[in-house]
Order: sequence, then structure tokens, then C-alpha cells
Amino acid sequence: MIIAPSLLAADLGYLADEIKKITAAKADWIHLDIMDGHFVPNLSFGPDFLKLIKKHTHLPCDVHLMCSSPEIILDHFLEAGADNITLHAELGKKAHTLIEKIRGSGCLAGISINPPTPFEEAIPFLSEIDLLLIMTVNPGYGGQKFISENISKLKMATKWKKLNKKKFILEVDGGINFESMKECVKAGADALVSGTTIFRSENYKEAIHKMRLIAQDVCKIDLQK
Ligand code: DX5
Ligand code: ZN
Repeated sequence: MIIAPSLLAADLGYLADEIKKITAAKADWIHLDIMDGHFVPNLSFGPDFLKLIKKHTHLPCDVHLMCSSPEIILDHFLEAGADNITLHAELGKKAHTLIEKIRGSGCLAGISINPPTPFEEAIPFLSEIDLLLIMTVNPGYGGQKFISENISKLKMATKWKKLNKKKFILEVDGGINFESMKECVKAGADALVSGTTIFRSENYKEAIHKMRLIAQDVCKIDLQK
């Protein structure tokens, strides 16, 4: 199970410490939410922020671009050292060219779908990507409630992946806590993004470890069925 804490919920006044702590806590990736104030009603970080993060960790940085015109900023994120870059399927056809560019730079490319977007809109991209990110809240803010209706989309993606013998990573993002993660793992999630649950816990290492144990238990129970 890949655990990807979302920095949006970290105490950014202590950025270097937070990154060192989350690295020592054995997170797998660091998830970075990039918001443009247009695709989502909020603003967050730019490529220089990613450069700062890379100074303090060896962990792969999982960049989630919630941007209407990612083509403007893509090169800068590639140069800044992004390891994964995810775009939204809601952008339509132009995402194909951008995915090609991301992969051509040796970065993993992902596609994401928002809660109102049907799974079918992701299908045209599924043979080109390394990662499918299913949003389980409407993007824009951390700390929102998990929208459980998205589990059916996750199940569709898992089914499609098996049927078409694809290996892309299935990631979920938004409202992931020790309870909601169970349904996600059962439905086939390989990667869990979690901001509030991890960064607002007393001990990041324990929180991440607890997530791993819960994921293992869920998988075991599922295999016994
Ligand atoms: C929402 C972001 C998420 C968010 C997750 O727009 O894409 O990555 O930071 O935060 P929590 O875990 O607090 O829902
Ligand atoms: Zn995100």
C-alpha cells in the first residue's frame, strides 16, 4: 500500500521540519496539491515550493495539478523535480499531449476524475497512464468529508484494470481516514492520499503504521472470502 500524506494539511510555518518528520515516519510519497484559483476555488503552491520540498526529502513527490491550463506550468514542475504528475480528465483531449510529455520526461503520469465525473471519461486515457486518481471529495480544500458514492467508480476502475491487464496505480484522494480507507482498499485502491488524518495526528509514524495495518487486515479478510 502506498501512503501519500498531502502537505496541504501540514503546518507550513515549519515546512522543513514537517517534511523531515513525514519522511522519517516512512511515508511512501509526498502528495502536493497545486490549485490555480480557476479549476478549483483556491490557490496553493508553485514549482518553487516543490524545489524547497525536494531539498529535505528523498521521497517521490506526487504532484496533483488542479489547474485549467496545466500546459503553462508543466515544464516548471518537471524541472523542479516532480516524480509523478497527475492532470484532470475534465480538461478533455489536451490532456493526451501533456501525458505524453510527462512520460517523455521520465515522470509517472496520472489522470484524475472529480466526484461528478463518470468513470467513462477516464477510459480514453487509461492505456497511456501510470496512475489513476479518483477524487473522493470535490477538490479545492483539505479536511472535507469522504463521498462514499465514489467507491462504485473505484470498483469500475479495478474491474477495467483486470479485464484489460493494465498495471496503473489506483489512488484515492479526499477525506481518507482510518474508516473510509477500508472501503477504498476493499475496492482495489493501491495508494491512499491523506492530509488531515496524518498531519493532524499526534504521531505521524504511528498514523502511517496504523493505515498500513488496517490495509493489510482488509486485504487478508478479502482473500479469506
Ligand atoms: C483536495 C486535495 C486533497 C486534500 C486531501 O483538493 O486534492 O489532496 O489535500 O486532504 P484530506 O485528507 O484532508 O481530505
Ligand atoms: Zn490531491
